Amino acid sequence: MANASGFFTPSVPRLGTKIQPFTGISRSGFCFSRRVVCSSAIEGAEKHASPSESRVPKLVSKGCKLVGCGSAVPSLSVSNDDLSKMVDTSDEWISVRTGIRNRRVISGKESLKNLAVEAARKALEMADFDPNDLDLILMCTSTPEDIFGAAPQIQRELGCKKSPLAYDITAACSGFVLGLVSAACHIRGGGFRNVLVIGADGLSRFVDWTDRGTCILFGDAAGAVLVQACDAEEDGLLSFDLNSDGEGARHLGAPMTDDKTEELLGSNGSVLNFPPKRSSYSCIQMNGKEVFRFAVRCVPQSIESALEKAGLASSSVDWLLLHQANQRIIDAVATRLEFPQEKVISNLANYGNTSAASIPLALDEAVRSGKVKPGHTIATAGFGAGLTWGSAVIRWG
Ligand code: ACO
Repeated sequence: MANASGFFTPSVPRLGTKIQPFTGISRSGFCFSRRVVCSSAIEGAEKHASPSESRVPKLVSKGCKLVGCGSAVPSLSVSNDDLSKMVDTSDEWISVRTGIRNRRVISGKESLKNLAVEAARKALEMADFDPNDLDLILMCTSTPEDIFGAAPQIQRELGCKKSPLAYDITAACSGFVLGLVSAACHIRGGGFRNVLVIGADGLSRFVDWTDRGTCILFGDAAGAVLVQACDAEEDGLLSFDLNSDGEGARHLGAPMTDDKTEELLGSNGSVLNFPPKRSSYSCIQMNGKEVFRFAVRCVPQSIESALEKAGLASSSVDWLLLHQANQRIIDAVATRLEFPQEKVISNLANYGNTSAASIPLALDEAVRSGKVKPGHTIATAGFGAGLTWGSAVIRWG
């Protein structure tokens, strides 16, 4: 089992640990002293502003803040009653066991890429930010429409004239939290000021719509957040805790099918069946009970760890925003962490589990409805296939 609680783990201050002056260590475990070294190298680099050179570290930034968000969902809404016409289930069973009532599904000419672009545009608009000034686009998705990734195509669709770096992050339902922390690492490491983090997934394309154990859970969506460099005092990523455990992969996955590579060679090494057949991915296979157990055990621990690093008690955090997988998981984690119901953000009744999109989608709705206000703190956590799970304590605005 791997854990990443900051890239300079030994530097992560524990609660009650007194931080020595000038050690250059932040609450979230980053070492600022390295950036001071970077900064002198950059002043020279800044004079030559070619697109590639502009990515050379050019400023010492000590914090990063979340300044805009947006989301987009497909137009087709599929209710529990609709599903009960396809598989042996009912609105009552699904809503009692999961809290889900509807989900959105990509259809017709819609695409995941376009949803991601729409969410991104809304986030940039909220921040009144020109896409040409983006330094980096992180597309967190496990279901890109191109196996080589979607981020560069989103860069093109957004019309970013300076061609910012753009790449995908694959981490299922933890994708957005990992993207957020990655954005902070890029900013704090120097060279990147404005990072667009998109969480988007189209799991409906990998669902077996005859399997009532999984098809009731998932929906499609996209959400985006603009993360910007700022002074240390304004820092909006207070702490994080990231984990993965490949042992648990057997409980949740969509592995490649028809892997015939072994049949290419005979026992004497001669080539038998060339060329290999084209591979594809199976539908989502899940042991729901195991995933449920994993979530209610690991997510509270991860959030507790992040809260401790931030030096915050759950009572002083404004909101709990978990990956929207199952209302019973959300309730169990909230109870364990003593978050009252009114501090828990939940919108999965309308969208189901939208994987990497679920946190930015719920955040966007909460911000636009006026629930989450600038300065509010949010304990957030993603968890899912991999297995991966991670938490972040963030401040909005
Ligand atoms: N409608 C009616 N009955 C159903 C349905 C359904 N849709 N699905 C299962 N059942 C039946 C089962 O066959 C079983 O019947 P039996 O008792 O006669 O054998 C009974 O209901 C109980 O089934 P369980 O699987 O034990 O139900 P459970 O209470 O565990 O709920 C669920 C299933 C909702 C899937 C739950 O386990 C869960 O939410 N797990 C977490 C899943 C999750 O969050 N996955 C996503 C992770 S994120 C990512 O990375 C993609």
